[in-house]
Amino acid sequence: MSIKVGKQGAIIKATCPCAHCLILRVQIAIFLRNSFSTSPVRMPRRSPAHRTTSRKKQHVEITLTKDVRFRGKTTGLERLEFVHNALPELNFDEIDTRTLFLGKELSLPLMVSCMTGGYAGALNINRDLAAVCESVRICLGIGSQRQALEESRYHRTFSVVREAAPTIPIVGNIGAAEVARMKDASAVLRLAGLVRADAFAVHLNPLQEFLQPEGNPAFRGVLEGIGMLVRSLPIPLIVKEIGAGLSPDVIRRLLDAGVRIIDVAGAGGTSWAGVEALRRTDTGLAGRFWDWGIPTARALADAASLRSEGRQMTLIASGGISSGLDAAKCIALGADMAASARPMLAALHRGGKKGLRVHIEEWSKEFRGTMFLTGSARITDLRSAKLVSYPDRDTR
Ligand SMILES: Cc1cc2nc3c(=O)[nH]c(=O)nc-3n(C[C@H](O)[C@H](O)[C@H](O)COP(=O)(O)O)c2cc1C
Repeated sequence: MSIKVGKQGAIIKATCPCAHCLILRVQIAIFLRNSFSTSPVRMPRRSPAHRTTSRKKQHVEITLTKDVRFRGKTTGLERLEFVHNALPELNFDEIDTRTLFLGKELSLPLMVSCMTGGYAGALNINRDLAAVCESVRICLGIGSQRQALEESRYHRTFSVVREAAPTIPIVGNIGAAEVARMKDASAVLRLAGLVRADAFAVHLNPLQEFLQPEGNPAFRGVLEGIGMLVRSLPIPLIVKEIGAGLSPDVIRRLLDAGVRIIDVAGAGGTSWAGVEALRRTDTGLAGRFWDWGIPTARALADAASLRSEGRQMTLIASGGISSGLDAAKCIALGADMAASARPMLAALHRGGKKGLRVHIEEWSKEFRGTMFLTGSARITDLRSAKLVSYPDRDTR
């Protein structure tokens, strides 16, 4: 056997036909090809866009198949009760749950919170969420549009939302770490245009970025970026957490930067440390942060109390909202809107569009019932309905 190595690789001249020489010739050929080939080595695709795509897909899969709820912490809403009004002095059919949000009328102060987009499977999810939200007239937020900045392949997973929901308010979305790097608002304007957004949400997710192996916990400059967006965008900017809550101090700084719509997105529902713990086999670090965050009821009450300092804002309550009754409690605690993410996705997953519609109608019935039982004919009346925490709840 003789071997000749040229520019194009190796040519092996074989003369001996025995099996031993054949195997040797193949091994040499592979070695030479790898050593001398000028063509690029094929590596598995791991571009930033690819990483974002597979992470978004995993998030949906994990939140639908695993128990990602907080373990030792609740929203705190379950400890609050409305004072029953046995003399509501109104008929059930007089109750008006309509509200105005982002200049559009909703049937209920409710939003399906920002979740997905940016991978193939998100197309149907977003289309269905949008179609149901349009049919019941509630607001819809879409998931982080970061992937749409990285490449255009999955743009339709976002734009489909506006096709399916031409008239309801739709909220675009991007993460804080992206905002910190922005020099101007051009990228967000493009993303907002993709869905003809009525508002744009920036999510603050330091816990998630810290725990994600591929995360970007670079938060210096986020507040400045938010201020720049507030000044540059023709639509309102919403700032939200994703389940660890916003403290009064953070909200004050956001208001000082010009933000006027705040979603406290507190603890007690989906735990993003929990999701991270379940994304890997080693749950150590993420597992220890599973219950990190400010419970939704606390975050909401503290945020609402800032109004007594003369600070004006539209408040959205989310993070573990699990019923129409919870949503009503949030309004009584000072929220203008309630929002829910994972329970809505789960309802869609379980029962399709019909299942999600029935789920929202159930919440609506509960919400309306709560208004009746507190003597609240309008949302403004529900705002002043009395909530108490009965310490002696278990005593007879
Ligand atoms: C599958 C899934 C994906 C999410 N992706 C985003 C996102 O891209 N941007 C964002 O602001 N929030 C995202 N969230 C967070 C939700 O908007 C919400 O703040 C959080 O899950 C708490 O609400 P919940 O307890 O009702 O789920 C996501 C939630 C879920 C369940």
